[in-house]
Amino acid sequence: MIYLDACATAPLRPGVLQRMIETQDQAWANPSSLHGFGLKASESLERARSQIAANLCADHQDVVFTSGATESIHLALHGLAASCSPGRIVISSVEHPAVSGAAHLLSMSGWDVTEWPVDQLGRVRLELLDQLLAPPTKMVSLVWGQGEVGTIQPLLSVADACRSRGIPIHTDATQVMSQALPSWKQLPVDLLSCSAHKCGGPRGIGLLMTRESHRSTLEPLFSGGGQEGGLRSGTESVVLVAGMAAALDQIECCPPVDLARSGQGIADLRDALRDQLLRDERLTLCGDPKNRLPHHLSLLVSDYNGKPVSGRGLVRCLDACGLAVSSGSACSSGKDSDSPVLVAMGTPVTMRRSSIRISLGPWIEHKLLDEILQRFHAGLEQALSS
Ligand SMILES: Cc1ncc(COP(=O)(O)O)c(C=O)c1O
Repeated sequence: MIYLDACATAPLRPGVLQRMIETQDQAWANPSSLHGFGLKASESLERARSQIAANLCADHQDVVFTSGATESIHLALHGLAASCSPGRIVISSVEHPAVSGAAHLLSMSGWDVTEWPVDQLGRVRLELLDQLLAPPTKMVSLVWGQGEVGTIQPLLSVADACRSRGIPIHTDATQVMSQALPSWKQLPVDLLSCSAHKCGGPRGIGLLMTRESHRSTLEPLFSGGGQEGGLRSGTESVVLVAGMAAALDQIECCPPVDLARSGQGIADLRDALRDQLLRDERLTLCGDPKNRLPHHLSLLVSDYNGKPVSGRGLVRCLDACGLAVSSGSACSSGKDSDSPVLVAMGTPVTMRRSSIRISLGPWIEHKLLDEILQRFHAGLEQALSS
């Protein structure tokens, strides 16, 4: 089986499991306990926090551990919202459901949720910037690298515009951080969310990057023991944090402007695969060809007559042929439904259930490309004949 679904979850990077085992062995106690066992756990936790902070060019207090990106996003948006009176929150129309869901929950407490339209490549339409950042906008959340179609958003332009208007901006950097870590000191955003399991760390752990200016006003999602500077109560997952630190330690940090250009090695591999696949006229690239996550390919699939192929059906056939990929269309209660991201991009209605995503990781080597192509075509023929 060849795993091409890094954007869903990546396997653990080298040394991550070992560090987790050692941490469990040596730092198994409650980090809030005052005895020696507790101190060992607390030291391990803070060592990991400092390592992550150093890798992100941040201060250790900036790092708040959560159970993953979903919780981090909710803490960012609800935490900010609770610190001011309701107004308008602007999110892009291609957010992960964790962001759109968190924003729409805010509408119950009087917030107006406005979705920033995107073009056909999935990039927010910058000509609407002045209009969307005008009052009553009080908060913006913009995904950095879109997970389904791979488009990288013009985050820095939007963030600079927010800064100059005093509007706090949160970014969902969950897919970007597997490729490069941004320098937190240089990034003009207020809050940033990510999950370790996209980066070769364990599932069930993520973080929210914060700024001192917001920490005192940010409201926690729930109350309890007041861990994580009062922002996230509950006994810390010392082992998972250690695993996340070991994974992030293997990803390079770069200035935010270079982030979209990072991952050249994997981008070369992805481009080679893309060029071979696109020789088949039944496949069309989806998302931005230039501003895209370096490990990501999104394709719309049809037969030779232009009749759409079910993305979910194709994923099953590819699985049977030894390729693990994912489909873009949403699945609710087991029913196939249109991808909201493709709807927002204006993809023709007939093709909105025909996308698949291929995402690579460091375990894929160039010599595997022929095998991947062979299996892909076998799976596609199977899907067309079923
Ligand atoms: C862009 C993006 N944001 C948020 C999430 C949610 O991450 P998690 O399920 O780890 O909370 C994902 C997961 O696929 C994602 O791709």
